[in-house]
Amino acid sequence: MNLFAPKRLAITAIAASLFCLPATSQDLVVKANRPVATIQPHMWGIFFEDINMGADGGIYAELVKNRSFEFFKPLMGWKVQGKKVQEGDVTVLNQEKDRPSNPRFLRLKPKQTAIGDMGLLNEGFRGMGVKKGLRYDFSLQYRLAGAAKLHVLLEDSASNVLGRAELPLSASAAWATKTVSFESNASVLKARLRIWVEGDGVLDMDMVSLFPTDTWKGRPGGMRADMIQWLADMKPGFVRFPGGCIVEGYDLSNRYRWKNTIGPVDQRQLIMNRWNIEFAHRLTPDYFQSFGLGFFEYFQLAEDIGAEPLPIVNCGMACQYNSAEFASLDELDPYIQDALDLIEFANGDVSTQWGKVRADMGHPVPFNLKMMGIGNENWGPQYIERLKLFTDAILKKYPGFKIVNSSGTDPDGERFNYLDKELRNMNAAIIDEHYYRRPEWFLQNASRYDQYPREGSKIFAGEYAAQTDRGASPNNTNNWRGALAEAAFMTGLERNAGVVEMASYAPLFAHAEGWQWKPDLIWVNNLQSYGTPNYYVQKLFATNKGTHVLSILSNNEVIAGKDSIYASAALDTVAGEVVIKLVNASSRSITRSVVLDGVKKVESKGKLIQIQHEIYEAENTFEQPLNVAPAEKEIKITGKKLQFEMPARSFSVLRIKAK
Ligand code: AHR
Repeated sequence: MNLFAPKRLAITAIAASLFCLPATSQDLVVKANRPVATIQPHMWGIFFEDINMGADGGIYAELVKNRSFEFFKPLMGWKVQGKKVQEGDVTVLNQEKDRPSNPRFLRLKPKQTAIGDMGLLNEGFRGMGVKKGLRYDFSLQYRLAGAAKLHVLLEDSASNVLGRAELPLSASAAWATKTVSFESNASVLKARLRIWVEGDGVLDMDMVSLFPTDTWKGRPGGMRADMIQWLADMKPGFVRFPGGCIVEGYDLSNRYRWKNTIGPVDQRQLIMNRWNIEFAHRLTPDYFQSFGLGFFEYFQLAEDIGAEPLPIVNCGMACQYNSAEFASLDELDPYIQDALDLIEFANGDVSTQWGKVRADMGHPVPFNLKMMGIGNENWGPQYIERLKLFTDAILKKYPGFKIVNSSGTDPDGERFNYLDKELRNMNAAIIDEHYYRRPEWFLQNASRYDQYPREGSKIFAGEYAAQTDRGASPNNTNNWRGALAEAAFMTGLERNAGVVEMASYAPLFAHAEGWQWKPDLIWVNNLQSYGTPNYYVQKLFATNKGTHVLSILSNNEVIAGKDSIYASAALDTVAGEVVIKLVNASSRSITRSVVLDGVKKVESKGKLIQIQHEIYEAENTFEQPLNVAPAEKEIKITGKKLQFEMPARSFSVLRIKAK
């Protein structure tokens, strides 16, 4: 949709003209020479969790599902095929002694087999997205007694061959790795991988893998570049990872343990993804965490996109909605040690135990970790007593390190009030608040932080999203109504940046066929991806954040809902600009004077970036990815007071150079 249809263009041009009149009670007055707080450079960030097939089948570009046969059902994702396959020719072996973290492999017994006699078919994650002309790297680990050759084929669902390679294997008693690459001759959304075995003997296979070569930064075994680009484009200030409930696990055995996610990929122990079984209406039986994407890669990702890393560790409590299993206090030490070791892994000198592990993985330079979350959405006195032990140990070893603390699952109520009080008594550095609420809640709570104490604990709005239906409902949508309400609420976050240090929308990614939770910031299928209206709102805040909060008032009051207008303003000392954000959540156009108070000179050219849509329920889709998206234009300004038309259902960012 063209946001600036000719008719409205004309209105905007007139509206931006100057009227040197004194401020009236309806004017939006920016106190441009009086910054009231500093905006943290890392204020607007992202939160990545492996939910909705966000990691395996998502940003982790591996195309083979269950490559190491470690799923609960060892052959899930695979089909054994061929006219000569007999009982016992293909078996799953478990040899824990050799490879405790990756004990299973496949044993094949070809007997003078040729193409068509014995083979394997892998379906990928809802198919494999492949691109015409792109090279793909196939690899496997194998042992072989006898002689064998693999015929590796990429094919579409009608068995048309898209690419192929032959891989001769020489006899090897020890595990060996072999690779071969080939090109795809077509772009296909749901391709699959077939391997025919030719030969005679006993062949063991593990870590059967297929990666595209166009990964993020071209890293072999890396991430899907189109998905990461969405994140890089937001210029996020931080990356919170890896969750979310995934940190807690269904029970403690299912919790996220960062040490199991680093080092050689074939030694990272796979576990079930807790979202596999979370929602009866969205069961995802093939959802596991291979940890091909682990903590090293998350730190590297944060570094790549210029964001602060913010890891969250388990606090000795599994999800309280699920098992509510707690590590007893006298057995909490290993959990605390994991947190301490993580700081060493990220920041330690290469001579330290964990700093060396990082260096051996290819990153001798520290990641400069400054903050860490203890627990996700944990609550109750059990959380506080565990948190205190973590806090004491961390601050003793690393004074000044910032700890992010949970305020539970909800932004209000008994649990929240208890934690908020306890955390403030503990002088907690940062309190992580989460809100998944209806759009109306976001509108009504746009001034939530205007009432918060300016001193003491700072706030991290760690997870939020407007739920257009209800909490975690599959009918929630990423529509403009929700995104607009979030924009309104975010003006309140920005206005209170002295209190709210950081914020991130959640969840980040969803696969169109593998999701469990809606709404989500970025939707993908095996080849495409698009940003939701919510994404564009986040991006506009993150890329127009400024350095200092300026007050913007109407009738000497903050602008947080009167006449459905919401506003915040910032000074960008680097660009020498005043940045004003205005939300008109109503269904009628509103014109107001915006007054720049306290400036001497205003440049005649300004910039307007605006998202507007006639329909609250409007969404973006794979077919219409820019249905609700920002448009940018230059505006003329001729003084310190300008008439500005806020179209119905709009979010506008004005950038004005001023001295
Ligand atoms: O973002 C989805 C889930 O919502 C997160 O895992 C959890 O922290 C919250 O309840």
